[in-house]
Amino acid sequence: MENLYDNQSFWVDRVNMAKKAGDPTKCVYGNLRPVINNRVGVLKKLLKPTDRILDAGCSYGWLSRYLDNAYTGLDQTIALVEYGRELYPGINIVVSTMQDMPFEDDSFDWVISSCVKHGIVEGESLGMMEKGRWSQIESEILRVAPKAIIWPSYSFDYEILER
Ligand SMILES: C[S@@+](CC[C@H](N)C(=O)[O-])C[C@H]1O[C@@H](n2cnc3c(N)ncnc32)[C@H](O)[C@@H]1O
Repeated sequence: MENLYDNQSFWVDRVNMAKKAGDPTKCVYGNLRPVINNRVGVLKKLLKPTDRILDAGCSYGWLSRYLDNAYTGLDQTIALVEYGRELYPGINIVVSTMQDMPFEDDSFDWVISSCVKHGIVEGESLGMMEKGRWSQIESEILRVAPKAIIWPSYSFDYEILER
């Protein structure tokens, strides 16, 4: 198994496939439609309209299209962030790792993270990533917001983190 999260060139190929097919929801990660419906359904019940959200590991920022909240996306993969900026001009997404986020304390009300944790915890246990990456990320998440909702993988189970 490879560490695909830290492999920028892998994602360039996925973005090129999505551009060719003209539908990122079917190409970048397989069929995202059930995942989108699940995340949006849960978040619409959980969030207040005034909540500022950070989508950490946002990929090309699809979540921004489904919520009216003040949205910031963050992802370490440049090709995905650039693709999001092409698809959704004006979208607020930054290139950064989640281990060290370029935000002041309490910049957000909620951090949302979908399908990032599992790959990192697995990467750590297989020795493909440094140990402690996810625990550093959790500290960062709860520094920039008091609460977070984490879907570890593309399944529908989620965890709520609170300070
Ligand atoms: C499987 S995708 C999930 C994308 C999106 N959240 C979703 O639910 O469709 C994982 C994303 O996390 C990003 N990622 C992985 N590790 C990261 C890290 N340490 N910091 C920032 N982004 C990371 C990857 O670049 C990729 O876009």
